[in-house]
Amino acid sequence: MLIILENVLDKDEVASFRDRLAAADWQDGAGTAGTRSISVKQNLQLGRSDGLAQELGNSILRKLGNHPEFVSASLAEKIWPPVFNLYQNGGHYGTHSDAALMRLPEADLTIRSDISATLFLSEADSYDGGELIIEEQFGAQAIKLAAGDMVLYPSSSLHQVAPVTRGQRICAISWIQSAVADTSARALLYDLDQSIRALTPERAKDDPEINRLIHVYHNLLRRWAKP
Ligand code: NI
Repeated sequence: MLIILENVLDKDEVASFRDRLAAADWQDGAGTAGTRSISVKQNLQLGRSDGLAQELGNSILRKLGNHPEFVSASLAEKIWPPVFNLYQNGGHYGTHSDAALMRLPEADLTIRSDISATLFLSEADSYDGGELIIEEQFGAQAIKLAAGDMVLYPSSSLHQVAPVTRGQRICAISWIQSAVADTSARALLYDLDQSIRALTPERAKDDPEINRLIHVYHNLLRRWAKP
């Protein structure tokens, strides 16, 4: 299931991110790819110890923590610090799947990647190509979002970034370990939660049917969550 979150960053915030990232210390991204990925990855990245990457990454994490749809869709347990990358001059990332287990020794953090998240920072009309192509159950989907929007997709899916043939595509990517590892169980919980949220304003505060749906939601979550 692909979920698109709009306005994770508003237009002013994303413009300020771009201004600051324009002067960043971009490095060859192949250095952080696994052995299989090196041959297919051609982009630039900010290092993990880069102060600007840490500051902007923390600000994204704060935004996500306060974003009800993100919380509901991800049921996040642990989140990998956002990684900033830049594609230009034909840069691309061929078909790959993300590592299942990721370890960050300096933060004593190990996560199982259940969900991959890509936050688009460049305006879509400022570059050509650069679609995130995700192979899903019902075929491939090409994703290219407005600056400030984020797509969540299963880390288990094969995906690629198409070559950027004009301009620059800057994104922040992250990986999430969910309390509910199973993608289809998580999708059911998300659908149920979305419906409860949509119905609640139309009903009285103590509406018994809404209360029963909330009861079902939490008991399914109790059954499926393995924090
Ligand atoms: Ni990937």
